[in-house]
Order: sequence, then structure tokens, then C-alpha cells
Amino acid sequence: SGRPAATDSTRPSGRGIRPSLEGPGLAALTAWVDQVAALTQPDRIHWVDGSAAENDALLREMVDEGKLIKLNPEWRPGSYLARSHPSDVARLESRTYIASEREEDAGPTNNWIAPAQIRQTLDGVFEGSMRGRTMYVVPFSMGAVGGPLSHIGVQVTDSAYAVASIGIMTRVGTAVLEQIAAGAPWVKTVHSVGTPLAPGEADVAWPCNDEKYIVHFPDTLEVWSYGSGYGGNAILAKKCFALRIASVIGRDEGWLAEHMLLIRVIDPKGKAYHVAAAFPSACGKTNLAMLRPTIPGWRVETLGDDITWIRPGEDGRLWAINPEAGFFGVAPGTGESTNVTAVETLWGNTIFTNVALRPDGDVWWEGLTDEAPPHLTDWEGNDWTPASGRPAAHPNSRFTVAAAQCPQIADDWETPEGVPLDVILFGGRRATNVPLVLEATDWSHGVFLGSTVSSEKTAAQEGTVGELRRDPFAMLPFCGYNMGDYFGHWLKVGEKLRFDRAPRIFQVNWFRKGDDGRFLWPGFGDNARVIDWIIRRIDGQVEAVDSPIGRLPRVEDLDLTGLDLPEADLAELFAIDTESWLAEADLTEEFFDTFGSHLPAALRTELAALRYRLQRV
Ligand code: GDP
Ligand code: PGA
Ligand code: MN
Repeated sequence: SGRPAATDSTRPSGRGIRPSLEGPGLAALTAWVDQVAALTQPDRIHWVDGSAAENDALLREMVDEGKLIKLNPEWRPGSYLARSHPSDVARLESRTYIASEREEDAGPTNNWIAPAQIRQTLDGVFEGSMRGRTMYVVPFSMGAVGGPLSHIGVQVTDSAYAVASIGIMTRVGTAVLEQIAAGAPWVKTVHSVGTPLAPGEADVAWPCNDEKYIVHFPDTLEVWSYGSGYGGNAILAKKCFALRIASVIGRDEGWLAEHMLLIRVIDPKGKAYHVAAAFPSACGKTNLAMLRPTIPGWRVETLGDDITWIRPGEDGRLWAINPEAGFFGVAPGTGESTNVTAVETLWGNTIFTNVALRPDGDVWWEGLTDEAPPHLTDWEGNDWTPASGRPAAHPNSRFTVAAAQCPQIADDWETPEGVPLDVILFGGRRATNVPLVLEATDWSHGVFLGSTVSSEKTAAQEGTVGELRRDPFAMLPFCGYNMGDYFGHWLKVGEKLRFDRAPRIFQVNWFRKGDDGRFLWPGFGDNARVIDWIIRRIDGQVEAVDSPIGRLPRVEDLDLTGLDLPEADLAELFAIDTESWLAEADLTEEFFDTFGSHLPAALRTELAALRYRLQRV
């Protein structure tokens, strides 16, 4: 303590002054900002207006402070490289909490903590945490400003990197403040890197704190995040708000906030279909969102790559929007041969985090090109050659870029009403058991498939890569309430749909491996062959074969033209091993048991039916 809280936000900086708007909602906002400032004691407050000039100044400042490296504009105009602290590279599920009043509302899959207890802890760590720094006030909208499915929020943060990232990932600025001023409800989010500066103390390139908390208050619709600068922990509009908090709002209002990409698939006749797909982090959402079909006549338009908000319409269909405005994508594995659309999207105006730096001032990561450049600076700033024996880019290195830069973004991707869904996919990373594609028999079976997804862990979260874990609906780390209730909510939403207009549900697995450990399916652009079958299937053009786990394609209906796929591999992609599936059913029962009375009876019925079918084989 000592230094007084600086609540005078009208410093003569020439920008970022407190808005001169009027309206009943603004008083509540400024009162809240003052309250957070009194706790965190920043030197300055900057109200972010979202202008290009403001963004330029912010980026320039970060370059001057050594927090960003400006890339060579000849190769990558308007682009920057950030290197995080080596310990602050991914989401931290063990430090992520749901602080609902009742423990039961957080459910068995979340870290629950009592709100009163964690508020005390947070008050302690946030006290003076912004000393010596600027506190930015960032009003943001998820979805087009004022849209019927949109929601707004405000993030207060002492991280300029977070501000620049939020500016790309959401719609920021004065238009949002006008909504707040007019009395629109908004969500409060507070973020501090937890590294106050003493007077005159020099800052470090990536301030963060060893102690970290990412806390959600579903009852008061608030997020408090402390100690981490990493996107998933610091861009609070994204996973924290648009998934954890929004899932709670959706539960109460009758809609769904999902960890899904959203695309429009156009068939050779020009007919359009909308597909949403839930895959766990680093399991192929961004890639499928930017799919370039390898089969002739098909086209894909990108609508979203990570989060989809879905609402039942009066017409008995589900309507979906992408609430985000940018992509926060995994860099490694993104290259000319896998995701050329992403590579083209990243031509400029991109913030890269933890990728490698080339001597010519451009970036590189594993998979961008087949061969590594002979000499690089790795993500930690060390000299690197292909002989170094370690990756040059961090496995969870990321790019942050505006969706509008995507060459195949749909013209109407910002449409406030959203698009009607025809297909929902659930998937994960499964080396064994789960076939390339499988159709659910009905909505309830589809919810069963979603609820039982398991997937091998990736570098997107802390922990052991490759370890199999349940990740229902790819929402394990992102559901803000009791996952058992969430399953029930999905069933309830299904009841609101017209039976002939509900999206059809499929499960996919691009990641099945042979005994030799190689992927059996070529994936990427060839995933269009699976989409093609799905679309012909929902159009009633092809039959499917019943199996104990769901409906499978007849091999002759898959378009495999031009694909060099050994027959043995094809068979293995669809092989169903009864013993393994019975064992998986036992594990599902154990998993379901953890939800106690919150597990919908319909899912127990589905499990019993699965076992019956397996035992009859
Ligand atoms: P997201 O985090 O869910 O958006 O996942 P990404 O689309 O960024 O992909 C994560 C990783 O999975 C990257 O290394 C991709 O190259 C890889 N990947 C994505 N799609 C496929 C696929 O169809 N097959 C294989 N083998 N790998 C894929
Ligand atoms: P993703 O999420 O891994 O699903 O792209 C980003 C993050 O929060 O780490
Ligand atoms: Mn992604």
C-alpha cells in the first residue's frame, strides 16, 4: 500500500479517456471500474475505444518495452512475435475454478471452490497487483454488437498483450459502451498478470505470477483471472466467458454455448448445409473450419473455428452464430500441405506467440514447411538448428488473427441471426476403437455419443500428452455447471426441435492409428470425403449399416477416388472390436456414476441398449 489508487482516468494521454457517454448503465460500469482500481491500484486507467490508432500505439509501446518483436514487414506486415514465460504456455485446468454457491452446481468435473473463500483469496492477490501499470478497460461484444444472440462484457486487465488479443478476438470499443450506457446487461471480467512494479522498476517481457487463479462466478456472471498472460487464461471473453459463463446463461435461457467450429458446406449442385463440430482443444477444429475439399465440386466456407452459440428457433431448427471475431489457433502442424487456408490467413496483422523466429525476421514452426530452416531462434529465444533435438516452436504456440482475413470466410459470417444447423459432429483423438465416422440413430443417441467422448490429451492443456480422458462434448474444461445437468439440457433442447428439422448427429475420428503407430486416415482436406458421405446420408441418397455402436457407411458409398488407401487400413478404420467396446461400456458406466442423480435417465437407457447390442453380436 502507500501509493493512492489512481482513479483519475482523464489523464492527458490524448487517448483512452473515460467516455463522455451518458446513460443509466454507464454509472454502474464506472463505479465497478473505480472499485477494481481501488483494489488493484494501477497508475493509469485507459478506456479502450477500439480504434486502429489506439491499437497501433499499443503495439508500438509493447515493441519499445521488449514485449513484442516486430516481424519483418516484407514477409509479415503488421505482425508481431510474443515469447511467453516458459511456464505460462497453456491453459491451467488445475487452477481453473467454478465458484458457484452450491458445490453440486459445479458438478464432479469442475474444480469447485466456495465463493466467499476464493473472494478472500482474490482480494488478497489482486490488492495492489496493478501498481506501476496501466489498467485497461475493454468493452467487448461476443456476436455482432446488438445482435439477438450476442452478449457483451467488459474486461479490465493490466496486460497490453491481452488488450491487443481481445481486439482481434472480439468486437471492442465505443459501440459496446453505448449498449452498456443504454442499459444492456454485461458480464464483468477482471484480469491481472500479478506482477506489480515498484516505482522505477523495469518490466519484464512477459510478466506473470507463479500463483495463478482463473475463477468463474456463475451466480453473479463474473470472471477473475490472476497470474497468467496465456490466451486461454487471459482473453477472458473466449473460454471463460463465451463457454464457461455463457453455458450457464444458456442453461437458464434455453440455448447452448458450445466448443464447436461452424462451417457452411456447399455440395457440387450448389446446395448449402451448415455443420457444427465439437472436438477437444488441439483436435482439429481450426483445420476443419478451414477445410479445402480434395474432392471436386465441394466448397467449404468458414463461419467460426472454436466457439458456437446455438439457439432453438421458432421454426423448430437450431440457429448458430460464431460469437468471436478472430482465430486463436495452434501453429504447429499448420502448413501448406495441411491447412493452406490458415497459412494464407496469416499473411499479416497477426500476433504470434511462442513460435520460432527466422533470421530474416519472419516466423516458423514445425509443420509450416516440410523442412526446417537451417537456423532459427527458438520460442525461448535460444539459438536453434535442426540438430538441436527439440522443437523450435512450443507445441502449443499460437497465432491470433482476425477472422475477416480468412480467404474462405463466409460473406455473411457476422449475420446476427446466425445460420440453421443441419449437422452436428462430435470427435476426439482416438488411436483405437472409434471408427472414422458413425451416425447417431436419433437425438438421444447423439447426446449419448457426445456425453461419452474421450480423447487423448494434447499440449493445449497442462498434463501428459497422449493420456486418454473423458471429454464430453469437448466441454470438460469449459462447462460452467454440473456436466450431468448439461447432458440433460442437451436432451431438453432436442425436445424443442421439430423432428424433421433437428440437426443430425455424427461422431468422427480422424486420428485412428495402425499397429505401427501411423494415422490410418489422411485427414485434413480428405476429411471432405467424410463430410460428403454425411451430407448424402442426411439427404437420403445413401443407406447406412447398423452396428452395435451406431450407423456406419457402406464402404462403396465413400468417395475414395484418387486416394491411396490400402484396403486393410480402410477395414481397420471401421473395425469394431466387441470386447474393447464392452470394456469401454464399463468405463462409461463408471463415468456416468460420478454424476449421481444429475445423470439423465435417457443416457442410462442408451448405455443399456449399447450393451445389449454388443452382447448380441
Ligand atoms: P483445434 O485446437 O481443435 O482448433 O485444433 P487444430 O485444427 O488447430 O489442430 C490441432 C492439431 O491437430 C494440429 O497439429 C493439426 O495439424 C492436427 N490435425 C488437425 N486436423 C487433423 C486431421 O484431420 N488429421 C490429423 N492427423 N491431424 C490433424
Ligand atoms: P483451443 O483453445 O486449444 O481449443 O484452440 C485455446 C485455449 O484456450 O488454449
Ligand atoms: Mn483452434
